[in-house]
Amino acid sequence: MKATSADATQPVHADGQPAVRVRQASLRDLDAVVELRLALLREHPGHPIYGRLRKDVDARARDLFATQLRSITEVIFLADVESRTAGILRCVEAIGSPLLEPARYAYVSSVYVRPELRRRGVLRALVSAADRWSRERGIAQMRLHNVDGSAMAEQAWSALGFGVVEQVRVREL
Ligand SMILES: CC(C)(COP(=O)(O)OP(=O)(O)OC[C@H]1O[C@@H](n2cnc3c(N)ncnc32)[C@H](O)[C@@H]1OP(=O)(O)O)[C@@H](O)C(=O)NCCC(=O)NCCS
Repeated sequence: MKATSADATQPVHADGQPAVRVRQASLRDLDAVVELRLALLREHPGHPIYGRLRKDVDARARDLFATQLRSITEVIFLADVESRTAGILRCVEAIGSPLLEPARYAYVSSVYVRPELRRRGVLRALVSAADRWSRERGIAQMRLHNVDGSAMAEQAWSALGFGVVEQVRVREL
């Protein structure tokens, strides 16, 4: 059984795996946030959107993510396994169409788990934290986009209860 823990000690689960701890990132975590989010972008070098990194992406990333960390309408969660930062998830309070319900929803993005720490429940723990954060704000729906054709992402999101309701299409002009 995989679980999160908020204890000060480092519990070890019955299956021998250390627990996953999730915390809200602050500006002090900017280096880790930049590292994990750029690693996510570099995971898809051939992708028509995410594969087109700018040359100065590192400098831009620091400024952008620092702004996001200061925002009061979004949160970045980090998951720690023992003393290592294992994964990341960003969750934004988003405004829906004025013509549709719900008026607000939680938009999840920038989800990444270090390859060597995958399949230990890190994503599951990050999503649980985002669920709590969203519910506390009175939000009852969560949305996200995932890269087309990534079996691991598709299977992970399906396992966590996300259905497919839309497709994003791109045409170069
Ligand atoms: C997708 C990703 C975030 C999953 O993280 P993770 O910590 O390994 O996921 P979890 O261990 O919490 O898995 C939760 C469930 O999702 C499913 N799942 C996760 N990875 C899977 C895989 N590679 N193949 C099949 N099912 C998978 C399983 O049902 C799993 O539960 P189980 O291990 O009890 O069977 C991770 O593989 C990753 O960072 N991939 C590269 C970046 C990426 O695709 N990000 C998502 C962008 S939308």
